[in-house]
Amino acid sequence: MGPEFAPGVKGVKALTDESGKANFSGIYNQETPCAYYANLRRLKYEIPQHGATVFNQLIDAQPWGDGYRPTVLDVCCSYGIVGVLTKTDLELDDVYTYYQGAGDDGRTVDQVRRAENEFLGQRARPAAPHVIGLDVAENAARHGVAVGALDDAFVENLEATTPSSELAKKMSEVDLITTTGGIGYVTERTFERLLTCTEAPPWVAAFCLRTYDYEPISEVLAQYGLVTEKADQAVRQRRFIDDTEREWAMAELAARGVDPADMESEGYLYADFYLSRPQEDATGKPLADLVTIPAN
Ligand SMILES: C[S@@+](CC[C@H](N)C(=O)[O-])C[C@H]1O[C@@H](n2cnc3c(N)ncnc32)[C@H](O)[C@@H]1O
Repeated sequence: MGPEFAPGVKGVKALTDESGKANFSGIYNQETPCAYYANLRRLKYEIPQHGATVFNQLIDAQPWGDGYRPTVLDVCCSYGIVGVLTKTDLELDDVYTYYQGAGDDGRTVDQVRRAENEFLGQRARPAAPHVIGLDVAENAARHGVAVGALDDAFVENLEATTPSSELAKKMSEVDLITTTGGIGYVTERTFERLLTCTEAPPWVAAFCLRTYDYEPISEVLAQYGLVTEKADQAVRQRRFIDDTEREWAMAELAARGVDPADMESEGYLYADFYLSRPQEDATGKPLADLVTIPAN
């Protein structure tokens, strides 16, 4: 399989970086998500859907109290896909279909955004969570807010700097931190800098590629009193972009002692799900009783 991108996406090429992992920086910060969805669909990118399925179970389980609308901080929010899938009854395939061919249909950015805003409004879930985004990609995060997928967004790189005073203040409202496709770009540094702003740490629900070690993050979360559990079953993230990326993944998995049989060896990246909660919450309801991980 070649690393080419979808037609109609000018000047964008999927590459692998010096490590061998795919580099999608060309589609992460456009003014609309047309190229993002067109290209990731071709790679059978599934992780936001699996993430939202699990996050919605956590939100609906109402561990924060009946009738309460929790506030979610989605780390590496991109164009707001987790917001779309938690605030509406849409599924990722609906979003892919909605955006099919939208990259070169002649509409202005404003027209694309207004139409998506209307579409999402028609599919809003009652009692949907408040979703705040965090990403370094300013255009993408702004798009998420403009279409109503995100209630607010912070364009900050917590790998490099401490949170702004606005983000630090907002953290007191956050009940649940989520992330899909983000670990690797963000490390324990980002989580440490978020949690240090909170008095009662929120739950942290994260999907992490099996090529990466989550332990440095769970160790930081433990310092804030959060106990981390890992789900038994991993989920598909997407297809490898090419043989270089496959070789990179196999080498990372081998170094970590992770067996790729029936998973990465079949041509896909896989992610594990981790939930971190205060000890008393974890004792009251084990992870397996709280969420069902989607079957692949
Ligand atoms: C693979 S995308 C995942 C996006 C989305 N969560 C999803 O599941 O489709 C990775 C995202 O991480 C963002 N990112 C990269 N470095 C970051 C950082 N230091 N802090 C926050 N976001 C970052 C990128 O801009 C991009 O939107």
